Amino acid sequence: MPILEARSLSKRFRRPDKKSGFNGALKHLVQRKYKNFTAVDSIDLEIDAGESVAYVGPNGAGKSTTVKLLTGILKPSEGTVRVMGRDPHTERIANAHDIGVLFGQRTQLWWDLPVEESLKLLKHMYRVPEAEYRLRIERFDELLGLGEFMPALARTLSLGQRMRADLACALIHAPKMVYLDEPTIGLDISVKDRLRAFLRQLVDDGTTLLLTSHDLADIEEVCDRIVILDEGSIAYDGPISELKARYITTKAVHLILDGPADLDALREKFPEYEWAAGQAASEAVATYETVRSTTAEVLGHLTARLAPRDLSLSEPDIEDVIRRLYAGELAK
Ligand SMILES: Nc1ncnc2c1ncn2[C@@H]1O[C@H](COP(=O)(O)OP(=O)(O)OP(=O)(O)O)[C@@H](O)[C@H]1O
Ligand SMILES: [Mg+2]
Repeated sequence: MPILEARSLSKRFRRPDKKSGFNGALKHLVQRKYKNFTAVDSIDLEIDAGESVAYVGPNGAGKSTTVKLLTGILKPSEGTVRVMGRDPHTERIANAHDIGVLFGQRTQLWWDLPVEESLKLLKHMYRVPEAEYRLRIERFDELLGLGEFMPALARTLSLGQRMRADLACALIHAPKMVYLDEPTIGLDISVKDRLRAFLRQLVDDGTTLLLTSHDLADIEEVCDRIVILDEGSIAYDGPISELKARYITTKAVHLILDGPADLDALREKFPEYEWAAGQAASEAVATYETVRSTTAEVLGHLTARLAPRDLSLSEPDIEDVIRRLYAGELAK
């Protein structure tokens, strides 16, 4: 049985329907009109215990709204959600013991309390036994470096410290199902790295994870499955490796030649590749389709005939694939 199951899940919001400008605003005051707006449009989602799912989509796609529906913060307009057999909205308290939630854009720390006190409050709320609490705090300190700012008031923390503290709060009761909505937003590279390694460890230890992020490196490092949301509907759901295998069909060889690269001559000599200029005058980039030639063939061919000073190989990354998916360039 899946740990999480959503069926035909929809959320509609009422939105003020007003003309723009001052007159429109004035009219709206006098005669309020609303129209329905569908933020989440009949999605089906099943997550098995132990899975790590990336939930991605452009701004406004409905990701945070979905997370709010799945965690019981919002009530669905239609459809059902079951998390470990419970309805997270009507059984919010029981559900809270089994789930952990983080919204990167907000904090759940008590603003005027030291971080340590927020954690202790949560420990009492979730009835975490003292010994377990200590073990977890030690572990979070080791992996996230909490110790240095445990005594600091939450409102004095830097963003990176705040996010690490928030993550500890979301996980202090060792929830089985964890939802993280943009946990790396605004963080510098080193904190991001630390957080990703921590999340990967969490998944490897058996926690089920749903992660939203606009940073695709987060996704590749932490998740195995990707669900792409577009205007409230699921546009893709499958293993990340499959998404890549399906849509990454070209690779490129970057060549550094002895003299200036003559693209016209290269195109004439090697019409089977697509040629583009490199960054420097002596560089050229040959793109080939992976169904037509193997990398070994291409490299052998080019090195034998051009004797480049150096070369490197690249393939479009997941970011390219997703950008093209958002732009509707790829068949769904
Ligand atoms: N409480 C609300 N009332 C009205 N509209 C809302 C409400 N919450 C969200 N929306 C709208 O629903 C749509 C989806 O919002 P949501 O926050 O779920 O997007 P998102 O995918 O999380 O985007 P982002 O990547 O920017 O975080 C948006 O158009 C948003 O304006
Ligand atoms: Mg969001």
